[in-house]
Amino acid sequence: MASPPLAHDPNRIPAPLQRAREHSRAPSVRSVGSTVDRDGRVIEEVGSPGESVPLELLQSIYLSPNSPSPDTGSFPSSSGMTWTGTAHQRTESFSSDRYSPHNVPDWPSAVSFTSRTTFPPVKKLPKAQKRRVLVTGGAGFVGSHLVDRLMFLGHDVVVLDNFFSGSKSTLSHWVGHPNFELVRGDVVEPLLIEVDQIYHLACPASPKAYQINAVKTLKTSFMGTLNMLGLAKRTKARFLLSSTSEVYGSPTVHPQPESYWGNVNPNGPRSCYDEGKRVAEALTYGYARQDGVDVRVARIFNCFGPRMSADDGRLVSNFVVAALKGEPLQVYGDGEATRSLMFVHDLISGLIALMESDYSEGPVNIGSPDEGSVLSWASTILALVKDLRASGSIPPLPAGQKESEIEFVPAVVDDPPRRKPDITLAKEVLAWEPRWTVMAGLEETIRYFAGQLAEGE
Ligand SMILES: NC(=O)c1ccc[n+]([C@@H]2O[C@H](COP(=O)([O-])OP(=O)(O)OC[C@H]3O[C@@H](n4cnc5c(N)ncnc54)[C@H](O)[C@@H]3O)[C@@H](O)[C@H]2O)c1
Repeated sequence: MASPPLAHDPNRIPAPLQRAREHSRAPSVRSVGSTVDRDGRVIEEVGSPGESVPLELLQSIYLSPNSPSPDTGSFPSSSGMTWTGTAHQRTESFSSDRYSPHNVPDWPSAVSFTSRTTFPPVKKLPKAQKRRVLVTGGAGFVGSHLVDRLMFLGHDVVVLDNFFSGSKSTLSHWVGHPNFELVRGDVVEPLLIEVDQIYHLACPASPKAYQINAVKTLKTSFMGTLNMLGLAKRTKARFLLSSTSEVYGSPTVHPQPESYWGNVNPNGPRSCYDEGKRVAEALTYGYARQDGVDVRVARIFNCFGPRMSADDGRLVSNFVVAALKGEPLQVYGDGEATRSLMFVHDLISGLIALMESDYSEGPVNIGSPDEGSVLSWASTILALVKDLRASGSIPPLPAGQKESEIEFVPAVVDDPPRRKPDITLAKEVLAWEPRWTVMAGLEETIRYFAGQLAEGE
């Protein structure tokens, strides 16, 4: 896409910016009170019936990273479910006072960590229902939410991650739990374990991260998927690949159904990811046809939420962090490219629904049809951050700091101009569709990043 024409008259405001300013002066855009879904019902639990988890439990982890509260040592109880009382206890073998910063006066910026003594409560499943689940890439943004959900549901979870774009801190609340294992390793190497299900997510997902080492991204996509499919074949595990809307490239069909074969540049700077995922899909169906491996493929469209990396250049985290810091929100090109945004809890519900479903015929789009221009998302996020500040839900801007403005920067190569999933198939075969409004998801994400910034992250 071509760069926007530069305004030579310094007093002339480009039309998109003018629209953005009008949009950000709009009255309150914030939802009031509890989190409500698209039908106006309060969201108390996420996930399909029988696989649902109280929202309060999930929030207790990502909205307050250092929970449980030091006063009570316990997690908030949930809405009458059988979660409390199943928490596993762990005892300390040393006094954390020994490591307090006040014992090292010449080290003023030191941080002392105290080990957790209580884990978040998980469901107690009968042995026959408890699955051994491998999540590759489980320390990343999506993977860590999937791990939380599977852990709360009572399964045994093994995470394999090389921490290239993920972080141990996203899972630290489970380390030491008897149902959880964290393995530092690379999917390009074979792994020999016994499992019932494999969610194969390992692959950097942001253009900034996957272009750092294009060859490694391709190796991860091909060899990583080959190894995990080999493991699925040996163990007879069900295998789910997290594919992407990027397999549609710059689409000539809108919205994009699964039957569309795509329009991908096979050798551009993004091809390591786009073609990597296309070959991963081809491998997956090769193993299904040739070796009878039980496979599922989710084509994920733009997803956002807490635990996105603050600096990996993805749309929502970029805009939210800039707005919170009072820095310019950088919009690529003229801002008219569209993106459809899905909140992470909806994605996790979709992935679990797909894994548990009988549908194995082909890929399923998991995404939100809420399409908006990049510029309109920037304006919405700006307005929402201002609103949350005004209501005291997040800290005010430091004194003297000005509110952010929108800044146009040159478009990036092969950035798709339009993205919107056709989710008819997911509705039919999974009875799944997004439940969260973008506004409710954005509010949750802003509160998360405000907390991170307050902690100096
Ligand atoms: N987030 C989205 O909007 C989105 C959209 C489409 C597809 N997806 C897919 O979902 C999956 C997860 O995406 P995400 O947003 O959580 O990305 P992420 O970068 O936050 O997470 C990827 C994880 O995989 C790990 N990883 C990368 N290469 C690895 C390797 N060789 N061996 C082991 N671990 C490795 C990373 O360290 C990280 O923890 C990816 O496969 C991505 O392609 C995500």
